[in-house]
Amino acid sequence: MGKDVIIACDFATKKQVFDFLDLFKEEKPFVKIGMELFYAEGPEIVREIKKRGHKIFLDLKLHDIPNTVKKSMSVLRNLDVDMTNLHASGTISMMQAALEGLTREDGTRPLLIAVTQLTSTSEETMKSDLLINEPIDKVVMHYAENAKKAGLDGVVCSPLEAEKVHNACGKEFLTVTPGVRFADGDKGDQVRVMTPAQAKEIGSDYIVVGRPITAAEDPVAAYRRCINEFVG
Ligand code: C5P
Repeated sequence: MGKDVIIACDFATKKQVFDFLDLFKEEKPFVKIGMELFYAEGPEIVREIKKRGHKIFLDLKLHDIPNTVKKSMSVLRNLDVDMTNLHASGTISMMQAALEGLTREDGTRPLLIAVTQLTSTSEETMKSDLLINEPIDKVVMHYAENAKKAGLDGVVCSPLEAEKVHNACGKEFLTVTPGVRFADGDKGDQVRVMTPAQAKEIGSDYIVVGRPITAAEDPVAAYRRCINEFVG
């Protein structure tokens, strides 16, 4: 898979997501389905979006004992998604178990991406709540290296970290980066942002873009602008 724009479909209901996808007549964008929609609508929503011809990143961020994660991944693999994820903090053995569960009998599997430290966790709360005393950058890179050791395909990270991750884990190790905004756009609640063109420049493999597309006056035009800047 090459560089692509993944639209974060952070909608609460099936109707909202289909009204949004119906706007796209020519393209079939790669979409991210998160916990909110998945828990509300169940696995059928994934099958229906897949049937419409979209690639899907199923963002459920699994984290449990290795055996449970393995068995859950072997259920998810039947949904035929293109990418899914877990928390690297679940340890290398959990990530290895996840990969085993996700791999189909014919050897194929969706891409498996790790979340390192959530961007909502600051260095301060990492220290006070989790008793992790290393600098957060070091923790993020360590988790990325663990994901690489476990055989995963990449990590979710800030576009600002993508270059460092590639330097440490190799160019082939995928960086999937949210926090993307147009130069003339509203940042919303994102703090450290990059434009699609800058994300391309620093080597992100996939950008995850939500509100700059979903809340745009013309979502199709906003999507095309992202594609042109990032891929085109
Ligand atoms: O609307 P916006 O472009 O900010 O959406 C970004 C998407 O990426 C959301 O689905 C958000 O949950 C997700 N995300 C993020 N930052 C992370 C991990 C995921 O913004 N560190």
